[in-house]
Amino acid sequence: MDNSKIKRYTVTAALPYTNGPVHIGHLAGVYIPADIYARYLRSNKRDVKFICGSDENGVPITLKAKREGITPQEVVDKYHKIIGDSFKEFGVSFDIYHRTSSLTHHQTAADFFETLYDKGVFTEEVTEQYYDATAKQFLADRYITGTCPKCGNENAYGDQCENCGSTLNATDLINPKSTLSGDKPILKETKNWFLPLDKYEDRLRTYIESHKEWRPNVYGQCQSWLNAGLQPRAMTRDLDWGVRVPLRDAEGKVLYVWFDAPIGYISATKELCNYAKLDVWNPIAEEYYISSHESDKCGWEEYWKSDETKLVHFIGKDNIVFHCIIFPAMLMAHGEYTLADNVPANEFLNLEGQKISTSKNWAVWLNEYLREFEGKQDVLRYVLTATAPETKDNDFTWKDFQARNNNELVAILGNFVNRVVVLTHKYFGGSVPTCMEITDVDQAVIDELAGYPGKVSASIENYRFREALSEVMNVARLGNKYLAETEPWKLIKTDEDRVRTILNIALQIAANIQILIEPFLPFTAEKLMKMLQNGGHDWDDAGTVSLLKRGHEIGEAVLLFDKIEDAEIDFQIEKLNQSKASNAASNIIAVPAKENIQFDDFSAMDIRVATIVAAEKVEKTKKLLKLTVNTGIDERTVVSGIAEYYKPEDIVGKQVSMIINLAPREIKGILSQGMILMAENAEGKLTFVAPVEKFQEGSVIR
Ligand code: MF3
Ligand code: ZN
Repeated sequence: MDNSKIKRYTVTAALPYTNGPVHIGHLAGVYIPADIYARYLRSNKRDVKFICGSDENGVPITLKAKREGITPQEVVDKYHKIIGDSFKEFGVSFDIYHRTSSLTHHQTAADFFETLYDKGVFTEEVTEQYYDATAKQFLADRYITGTCPKCGNENAYGDQCENCGSTLNATDLINPKSTLSGDKPILKETKNWFLPLDKYEDRLRTYIESHKEWRPNVYGQCQSWLNAGLQPRAMTRDLDWGVRVPLRDAEGKVLYVWFDAPIGYISATKELCNYAKLDVWNPIAEEYYISSHESDKCGWEEYWKSDETKLVHFIGKDNIVFHCIIFPAMLMAHGEYTLADNVPANEFLNLEGQKISTSKNWAVWLNEYLREFEGKQDVLRYVLTATAPETKDNDFTWKDFQARNNNELVAILGNFVNRVVVLTHKYFGGSVPTCMEITDVDQAVIDELAGYPGKVSASIENYRFREALSEVMNVARLGNKYLAETEPWKLIKTDEDRVRTILNIALQIAANIQILIEPFLPFTAEKLMKMLQNGGHDWDDAGTVSLLKRGHEIGEAVLLFDKIEDAEIDFQIEKLNQSKASNAASNIIAVPAKENIQFDDFSAMDIRVATIVAAEKVEKTKKLLKLTVNTGIDERTVVSGIAEYYKPEDIVGKQVSMIINLAPREIKGILSQGMILMAENAEGKLTFVAPVEKFQEGSVIR
């Protein structure tokens, strides 16, 4: 988009599902980069609306409600508050954090649907949909899993395969299974309204191809969908939770959650602009909106319907099709809306080498982090930006978190600022010294400093936030290098004027960092503001050495960052290990029960207590032991497949249970006369089943 044309920005961050708290994967993928971008724009005095809210419709919510024995509304209220509060505490600077259960949203989404309906956009189709006969409900795509027909991944969802990224229809899945009951779903007829995506294919292609600047992962995914050919997609669902389909013959149907959710961006903007103030609780502002219908004050439509508005969607990679194909097709069908200028989607963040998983509790939850690392919001913001999965999946590890805090934030940024402020207090009573004569060394630093704001801007405007942050850190490195080269602590005895200049320049560097770091680490910027007693500057002022006037009194030195000790990290690693252990425990699934037998079938088996009197390995086999056992009746030979678990010398004298009337069988040339009973767990490990105390051989087991 031509920069000179841009009058305002609409920046959206994917609406999180309110069926659980947000974790570091969400933060790294969506909310931190979006926040950096929005803060950067504000610092540049651009007109920006940063929009987010809770995605509260859809089956995930009803399922969660069922599981917890509460209503869907209670589920969304609970997580809307948890998520909203933790975003706020984490410094994510949304202009509004709205919710899709609100009346404004229901009205907006229903209106949108009606407009499309009135324009004859939808096709009406009676189709066979998967239905769970046990749970007595139609199954949304997400609630059917099965094998992906494209790549063979066995855990593909009914709408998408997360392994190969293909969009799917539930009926494409091989071996479909309902996640509600575990049953194989049946097909049942139902009428729904479809958006004929195929009719928008050409326009979508033109749109996508006019954005070759998009990230290769986003552009590439779009191309592959278009090349595969688009299919009509149902925009309504048989469900009792969500936005009612505003038609007479649509009893029991709601809008497809991916139809209503992106409209959530629009309804949030309306809400922000006082389009309709409603009686809803806003957990961010911690107040109720007063019920009134003031008219549109800021002109929400300008943020959505003007070609002078730059619309940017921050999302995770599993949301690409919805934001680059389906939502644009909806907007095209509507006709009044502008399309996104960019959709910077990130890849996934792993945790300690494994995919983040909510169900396996393999995650670092934001609300827990905020509790356990009080006041360290910026450390997580820093680490997640520095390792952001911008172009490929990336890994978060606690060791790396600690190392980046200690070796980068503490040692580079914190150290520089601390030295400057402490020395200024020590030598000049905390007032900014006058810049005297500028040497070549000084000039080189001043020149280098002048280049940074432009570099950081270019990186941010191209959605390269990692690179941008590392450039800001280079400013701190520059400051450290400058102090190390000029050594003001030595010069103070011989050349106080020289020290005045050095500290003046060093303080200007710190003030520059305050401006440049603000989009990334707002809490650190705030501390710097207090320390330097420096406010009111924005991005345009950066790059100069005239931010702090001589004689200006700075504040007390405080540490920007503290070292993180091993114990804190060990605690986190231990927490993850516990998740791992409890997953392992709950993963052991007993094999299904066999069919019933009659008592006579059981009593036909002659099971006795026996004692092993000799044992040896069967030659050339891995698993077999040849045992001699005393059955109380006789001494006989049994071949048993337990060599992987027991050494011959360890089991002589052990008591076992044994079927003695099993027809003899020859195994590896040895006649085996009976069978030792063993218990086998899910991993195939074996153990003896024996009387718990020493017992007479030949005793009957029944
Ligand atoms: N709730 C979805 C997710 O977490 C994202 C919705 S984004 C929106 O994957 F566009 F639909 F709002
Ligand atoms: Zn696949």
